Amino acid sequence: MTQYDEIGARYEKSKTTAAFSAVDTYSLERELGDELRGAALDLACGYGFTTRLLAERGAGPVRGVDVSAAMVRLARQVEQRLGQGIEYVVSDVAAMPVLGVHQLATAVYLFNYAPTRAALRAMFGAIRANLDHRGRLVAIAPNPSPFPEGNWDRFDVTVRARVPAEEVPLLKAAFLLDEPVAFEFYEWRREDLEQAARDGGFGTVDWRPLATPPADDRFSAALWAEYRSAPVSSMMICRP
Ligand SMILES: C[S@@+](CC[C@H](N)C(=O)[O-])C[C@H]1O[C@@H](n2cnc3c(N)ncnc32)[C@H](O)[C@@H]1O
Repeated sequence: MTQYDEIGARYEKSKTTAAFSAVDTYSLERELGDELRGAALDLACGYGFTTRLLAERGAGPVRGVDVSAAMVRLARQVEQRLGQGIEYVVSDVAAMPVLGVHQLATAVYLFNYAPTRAALRAMFGAIRANLDHRGRLVAIAPNPSPFPEGNWDRFDVTVRARVPAEEVPLLKAAFLLDEPVAFEFYEWRREDLEQAARDGGFGTVDWRPLATPPADDRFSAALWAEYRSAPVSSMMICRP
């Protein structure tokens, strides 16, 4: 059982309401543009939020991969309703087989679940093996947390504890919904992710700051200015 088997549909609520998720989605949409072509693979697809976005923008075939059978079940239920032709696969990305040759891979909050350097390297290796030699991987990964001096509460996610370990600290965190939903993830540094990407077969790695959406009734310009000065996450773009 994975932690997301337990979290299940409550994650959908966070994805659609949290300030940090609004930044992720806005930035991803800007990076991908409106017109995609060719096969696309969404890693750590969860209930299929990003996967559907790829299909809506014209990619095809589109596949989503997640280690949580419960999350994939939710994604397949939506697919049954919408009929976008998305195929969902239950697999640990670190052990993912070659599913096809893809022009694009997305990974929104995958790498922070790799518990070891070997697993991190295996994830990048498996993604590379599924990408065309002119393809690209667009990932969103959390920045190291400011905890305990600071926190991300105002962006609707909080870190409650850091458990030191030999390879990578474990962060105990929660999505801040009406009832907070606890989860845990690993605090990889940028250098660790870059090294694993190169070891996994990627030739170039670029980092981009996330872009904040226009202010609206839910999120003020002041909140977005704060986000830009202490961003929760960054975009990582890797090419073979
Ligand atoms: C925070 S959710 C992100 C879901 C989706 N990318 C999104 O942004 O809505 C993290 C997802 O990563 C999945 N996950 C964690 N470890 C994984 C692994 N080793 N392989 C595949 N999926 C994994 C979890 O099951 C969960 O669905």
